[in-house]
Order: sequence, then C-alpha cells, then structure tokens
Amino acid sequence: MSDLAKPAVESLGIVKGHYECNYLDQTVPVLSELLAFEVVERGTRQMTMKHPNTDWLLVVHESGPDVPDKPFRNHYGVRVKNNEQVDRAYEYLMAKKEPLGLKKVVMRNERAGSYSVFFVEPGGNYWEIESYEHRHQAGLTHDVAYPWKQELNEEQFPGRGYLPHGFTHGTIECNDWASSVRFYKEGLGMDVITHVQTTKPHNIKHPDNTWYVVSLEVPEKNRKYLTPLQRFTIAMASEDKLKEARDALNTRP
Ligand SMILES: [Fe+2]
Repeated sequence: MSDLAKPAVESLGIVKGHYECNYLDQTVPVLSELLAFEVVERGTRQMTMKHPNTDWLLVVHESGPDVPDKPFRNHYGVRVKNNEQVDRAYEYLMAKKEPLGLKKVVMRNERAGSYSVFFVEPGGNYWEIESYEHRHQAGLTHDVAYPWKQELNEEQFPGRGYLPHGFTHGTIECNDWASSVRFYKEGLGMDVITHVQTTKPHNIKHPDNTWYVVSLEVPEKNRKYLTPLQRFTIAMASEDKLKEARDALNTRP
C-alpha cells in the first residue's frame, strides 16, 4: 500500500536540464560567451555545462543537422540584476548576432514586472535573459527575485556590459494544468509556485532548489512534442529510494 500523505517520489531535487542542439562546436561556445556557462564534462556527442552561481547542470546533446529548432515555449533562462542590464544585454547580443550566428534577438515587452530579451543560438534553442527588478519592487521577496548567494563579478565575465547572476529556469508544456499540477505535487513531490498573482501557478520547484521549471498549458493541437533529449532529471538518494518511487508511481490512483 502506498502512503498517500507523502508524494510518490521523494527526490533530492531537479539536478539537470537536458538540451538538444545541432552541433556542440556551434552551441557550447555561445553559451559560454553570452551566459557564463562553463564546460564541466566532455563527451563525444554531449557536454555538461554549469553556470558558476547555480547548482543544476545543463547537458547539451548533439543531434546533427536534421533536428528542428525548438519552439519558444521550450526555452531556458538566466537572470540579471535590473532592467538596465537587460538593455545592455540586448546591445551586446545585437553586436554579436552575426559573429556568433544567432538566429534571432528579440526584446520582449515587460510582462507583470518581468523584463527580458530572447535570443536563438545557432543550434536552434531559445534563451531568455530576464530582470525581476519591477517584480521585486512590487513585493516579490529578495531571495526569490535575486536567487543567488553571490553576484558574478566583472572579472568572471568581462566586457559584456551585463552579468547573468543565476541560471533560473527551464520550461515545458502541459495539456491540462490541473492534472499536471497534481502530478508535480503528489507524484513528484514538487512545490508549484507563482511569482505573480494568478489562480493557476505553474512554476515547478523542488523545495530545496531556487531554480524551477515553468509548465505552460497549451491546447493539444498546439503542442510540440520534442525528443527525450529535451528533458529534466531529478535525483534520488539511493537505488532503493528509486525503486520505492517507481512502485509508488505504479500503484498510486
Ligand atoms: Fe522564461
């Protein structure tokens, strides 16, 4: 019998985001140049990268020329300190658009206090550089608006005019918000949080992590199904815990 008071999966956290590109040689240098990511492990068709201020990892997979560009709704994002830094990032991205092979650079209108610029790296993935300055001014707590222990400094990331202090979020799609939220909470043991007033919070967050995965509800007809190389990894404390979680997921109503 499973204990329904507890989530089926009691994990240590969301530890990796996976990410599919055309070529590592194209994509990896761009993530270092624009977002401060560092390579921590090299494989033949995958590389693991880490943001200096954030403990989850980005596993970049190479899939060759035929993999289509990912939709905007499957992006990852970093955060800078204020809106002015987003404007500086836009200037730097525009200056580097051609030499780095960026497919798009787009400023976005501020949405509920979130101000950001998007770009598409040459391997076909959207990234967001965002500021929560106005969300913090509107009352969002400091630790949520600025979720890093220490700021990056100019020596770590010189000459860009902006500093991406934290690797804050990834995104996925769901078809039915209510049933997905129930699964994230009761199945995966995640918190489902919001940064703005809404009746439908959709940021999936492990209680011990600052980073989160935005789950965007879209109608089935608009859904873009991606390959298993675009996924998130949660870690378990042991093989026994993993087996318990699998059994609980299989038996839970
Ligand atoms: Fe985003």
